[in-house]
Amino acid sequence: MSETKETTMKTRENSASGLTVDENHPLVELSHVEKHFGKLHVLKDINLKVNKGEVLVVVGPSGSGKSTMCRTINRLETIDSGTIRIDGQPLPQEGKELANLRAEVGMVFQQFNLFANKTILQNVTLAPVKVRHMDKKDADDLGMDLLARVGVESQANKMPSQLSGGQQQRVAIARALAMQPKIMLFDEPTSALDPEMVNEVLDVMIKLASEGMTMICVTHEMGFARKAADHIVFMADGQILEKGTPDEFFDHPKTERAKDFLSKILTH
Ligand SMILES: Nc1ncnc2c1ncn2[C@@H]1O[C@H](COP(=O)(O)OP(=O)(O)OP(=O)(O)O)[C@@H](O)[C@H]1O
Ligand SMILES: [Mg+2]
Repeated sequence: MSETKETTMKTRENSASGLTVDENHPLVELSHVEKHFGKLHVLKDINLKVNKGEVLVVVGPSGSGKSTMCRTINRLETIDSGTIRIDGQPLPQEGKELANLRAEVGMVFQQFNLFANKTILQNVTLAPVKVRHMDKKDADDLGMDLLARVGVESQANKMPSQLSGGQQQRVAIARALAMQPKIMLFDEPTSALDPEMVNEVLDVMIKLASEGMTMICVTHEMGFARKAADHIVFMADGQILEKGTPDEFFDHPKTERAKDFLSKILTH
């Protein structure tokens, strides 16, 4: 896998050298983001940059604000202060502009949330047809391509309840990709899966990363984090306590909180 990663890095460098304007700003940038839920201060001065083609893995104990941070990035949650920019543009408050920007951010959650009364293919084609006004035939072609990419094309005409959890989660990834997002957010996409299905989903994510997709992934899968991440962010109590490469974070954590966290998750 490290080979894949090296190849990826090279591809990224090459593609980066061909671009000029786009490289001037990060694809996602959070500056001084603050958020409360009532009296609870859940995000404290969050500063984060994710460049095009980078994979950021977010780890931290339960309740540290990982999901809330992800949800602010496509504005499923509002923020109290600070700014969030997607591809250089501040996240609009509401309306059509928000819908447009939100369409650039694909999101996959712990729960698969497929539409239960639609077929697998319809789940993938619905948004391109409704939101992007794509011709049905083109959407079907795109949908079948995406289902093939995640390895479930043979399930296209089934209903979600007929698929395993791992297959459903791969469909959820295909559905997010159908909107051709600039960035994909994953919030613990494998934590509701039976163990034998975890790898089939992680493999799809590793492939996406190696193809150059920009990704923010909240996950407890440390093997994945080591393989796929360019950077790791460690959150605790609403703060980013550490930022570093996987080697820096896993082999040389700086804070006691991170050492404690790692000792708990890496021992079993
Ligand atoms: N809608 C909400 N209203 C009030 N409090 C909330 C809400 N959503 C989250 N919280 C609280 O905000 C804090 C951060 O929650 P969040 O879900 O972001 O943590 P997390 O790091 O994703 O945790 P986990 O690893 O368990 O998923 C927690 O204390 C949580 O109880
Ligand atoms: Mg969470």
